[in-house]
Amino acid sequence: MLSLDITKTMDTNKKNGRRSFLKNTSLAALSVTALTNVSSAKDLETDRAGGCNPTTPDFYGQGPFYTQNPPEILNNQLAEVSEFGTRIIISGVVRTLDCTEVIPNAIVDVWHANDPGQYDNTGYNLRGKMLSNAQGFYMFETIYPGKYLNGTTYRPSHIHFKITPPGYPTITTQLYFEGDADLASDAASSQTSGTYNAADRIITLTDGGSGILEGTWDVIVDGDGTTTEVNDLHLENGIIYEVSPNPYSEILTIKYGVFRESNVSLAVYDMAGKLVASLAEENLSPEKYETTWEPDSSLPDGHYFVALRINDMQVHYQKTILLRSGK
Ligand SMILES: [Fe+2]
Repeated sequence: MLSLDITKTMDTNKKNGRRSFLKNTSLAALSVTALTNVSSAKDLETDRAGGCNPTTPDFYGQGPFYTQNPPEILNNQLAEVSEFGTRIIISGVVRTLDCTEVIPNAIVDVWHANDPGQYDNTGYNLRGKMLSNAQGFYMFETIYPGKYLNGTTYRPSHIHFKITPPGYPTITTQLYFEGDADLASDAASSQTSGTYNAADRIITLTDGGSGILEGTWDVIVDGDGTTTEVNDLHLENGIIYEVSPNPYSEILTIKYGVFRESNVSLAVYDMAGKLVASLAEENLSPEKYETTWEPDSSLPDGHYFVALRINDMQVHYQKTILLRSGK
């Protein structure tokens, strides 16, 4: 059963609440003062830096329901359209232990129970793996996992992960969701310190504008990173604060702020990490800006992300969904 008190969890989750505030704030409500206020930008940086804790293994390890050699996830869809349940999207960036670099080509292997709380132990439904892309980004759409009994109590809804950076050990863990009434009674999700601390693995789901609940979870592990990719520890330099509408079919409007004079570029990438559009590249003074993107008709529907790069450091990105069908 899906039970989420979005308002409450946003209040209690500073990082995600702030992120959502920035995403939802209208241009009119954002003054130049706010955008050029370096101290508020530093708060953002502190939020991120405070979150740079190594990803912990789960107390229950991989559990009893892992199946070897899952298939590749196609088109970021772990759950087929016909799968019963509440649709959710989980995404994030695989980062190095100091969070300054991203890790491409990490294997992200996921599996979870269906809506009634059952695993497919004979086939591969709701099981699959993907690679983090050139920006370290991974994403999959699935359904909110159901619950199953563990002794006399229900395990909270969870998604299992095995993450393997190229040439480094696998970390096996589980992801949970804020507002789940069974978090406190579960031996794994209730861990708040030590080796199996689950605090950074309980995420908030919010409606990102597409009608699908979305959650962000960055994975922080030992691995070989790349230096000039996504790094939103540097949000003090600038931020994308709105992409709208989302989903979009013809024209996407992107609003962003630059906090100090710098060389700024705005680009759109597909889910494979391939550049599909360069929207702007120029020297900009501290101010808020707005630009539009009209995707070429040859681009397929699906997820893209808009990335803001400042002085060759990719500081921020936002996911968008191109959806022309039904028009
Ligand atoms: Fe499980």
